[in-house]
Amino acid sequence: MLRDFFIGLSKNQLLNTAAKNYGLKMGAQNVVAGTTIEETIESIKELNKHGISATVDNLGEFVFKEEEATEAKEQIVKVIQAIHDHQVDAHISLKPTQVGLDIDFDFCVGNVREIVAKANEYGIFVNVDMEDSGHLGATLELVDILSADFDNIGTVIQAYLHDAQEQVEKYRNMRIRLVKGAYKEPAEIAYQDKKDIDANYVRIIEWHLLNGKFTSVATHDHNIINHVKRFVKEHNIPNDKFEFQMLYGFRRELQLQLAKEGYNFCTYVPFGKDWYGYFMRRLAERPQNLNLVFKQVFNK
Ligand code: FDA
Repeated sequence: MLRDFFIGLSKNQLLNTAAKNYGLKMGAQNVVAGTTIEETIESIKELNKHGISATVDNLGEFVFKEEEATEAKEQIVKVIQAIHDHQVDAHISLKPTQVGLDIDFDFCVGNVREIVAKANEYGIFVNVDMEDSGHLGATLELVDILSADFDNIGTVIQAYLHDAQEQVEKYRNMRIRLVKGAYKEPAEIAYQDKKDIDANYVRIIEWHLLNGKFTSVATHDHNIINHVKRFVKEHNIPNDKFEFQMLYGFRRELQLQLAKEGYNFCTYVPFGKDWYGYFMRRLAERPQNLNLVFKQVFNK
């Protein structure tokens, strides 16, 4: 119920807009790296010091106007330039709806093409994040079109989807991020039970580790992480075939520990003014994250 409540809040456009003018509040500053590129580069440098790479997400939701999508694209191109100029160990994560998927498919493909081409000049990878199932087909089509021309592009597969295994097989030759899935999806297409989602998650991780090009295991779940550690050992899968990923600000100790143990580790670093929807989805996933809010409110 609490999950539905926060997912509902994440979709509230009025609150989204209000939050943009309000700065990072309610504890969001614990999980969002900053509002500017400069602040974000400093956060990445700090991660890099600990042997942790970053995937940078310019936060943005509810983009229905071409000017806003173009602005977002330009901001992402600036991030790519900053990654190159500062020589930090980082790549890009982007959400297709932020660069025009809800406006026009070809317009969106054009924007992502420009981003991927710019990143390609500097050897920087671009991950196309996966949103809700309403955008799934178009997102995969976009990835198919651009991966025919570029090899610095990858995407995300959500384990809660019944057809996750088919997707994993189709995208075996790509660098792929595997996640449990963050949106509320109907039972016709997605597992609803945590046990089923976890079981499918382990299944697709194992398959991709054995057969895929490069696997990003993106989870905060220590049971899954420990399983992966055992699995790669048993199957002699070298460290350069996979990495762990977690979100900025979550389980910091575990992030540092995994990097210290010699695993490739990449932190998802969101930044920007449009933090509200992202933050609400994190509360939906794990209401204990409300601790971040309470800490902030009472430490003032
Ligand atoms: P889950 O929330 O299932 O928790 C499992 C267990 O892990 C908990 O019971 C607890 O024991 C432990 N745990 C979890 N969080 C903890 C914490 N903060 N502190 C202590 N213990 C904790 N989704 C999507 O649909 N599209 C996408 O593109 C992405 N991209 C993405 C990138 C990255 C880097 C990450 C980490 C995640 C995503 N996701 C995503 C989100 C993903 O689908 C999923 O919703 C969340 O990661 C939550 O699921 P977990 O696997 O982390 O563990």
